[in-house]
Amino acid sequence: MIYVTRRETFSASHRIFNPDLSDSENEMIFGKCSNKNGHGHNYILEVTVEGEADPKTGYVIDLKILKKIITENVLQKVDHKNFNLDVDFMEGINPTTENIAAAIWNQLADKIPSGRLHSVKISETENNFVEYRGTR
Ligand code: NI
Repeated sequence: MIYVTRRETFSASHRIFNPDLSDSENEMIFGKCSNKNGHGHNYILEVTVEGEADPKTGYVIDLKILKKIITENVLQKVDHKNFNLDVDFMEGINPTTENIAAAIWNQLADKIPSGRLHSVKISETENNFVEYRGTR
């Protein structure tokens, strides 16, 4: 099996907040991540496709095509946006890195034309990242 990864970056804001909890519970669990008016990150998104190399092209997936799929289905919806307010595929979802990774997986999983989606990795800071591997 070969794993092919496209790395992209985007900037977005969010507020980690569970509307089912009280303000003090949100504050206790999420601290400054739950700041009422949000805060921003420079996210790194890594999308990995797995498969065999096509004997004709030598590619698992043409990375130009993968870039276009990520741009149209994710980056155009999230870059310079607020995850709580602006992103249709995050509606009603608390925008933790975990939930963002899973939601991006759902955006991409059925749109990969060759090979299969293997993982979606999101880095929120230099030290904190999440990798999601869903079912296809
Ligand atoms: Ni944050």
